[in-house]
Amino acid sequence: MALITFSSPMHKDKTVYAVAGSHTQTILALAKEHHIPIDFGCQEGNCGTCLVKVSSVEGKRRPMGGPLNVREVAALLDLGHITKAEVEQMYLDDIPPTQWRLACQMIVRDEDILVEYPSK
Ligand code: FES
Repeated sequence: MALITFSSPMHKDKTVYAVAGSHTQTILALAKEHHIPIDFGCQEGNCGTCLVKVSSVEGKRRPMGGPLNVREVAALLDLGHITKAEVEQMYLDDIPPTQWRLACQMIVRDEDILVEYPSK
């Protein structure tokens, strides 16, 4: 089971468990399930409203997560949070190139992470 800590300057931190092995639950779905007020819009990776910052709490430079999907790449390029070079490197390394993620697209994995919101 992974521990996911949601942190915002406007709310008390909240740590919840994510079921390991399901590999289908997004950060946004987990937040909604636990009444954590992350802003969202389209829920399809297009609008960028659900932008969050994700950090490993296990001392890794970047959370392992999964690589960004096509929608997440497009949105983060539009928002200026990744470069095309970082995207190309991501496909080689299979590691997310940035801490910035879309909560509606990032799938929770068996890793303890810190999710900071709102991101602006
Ligand atoms: Fe629109 Fe996540 S809610 S990109």
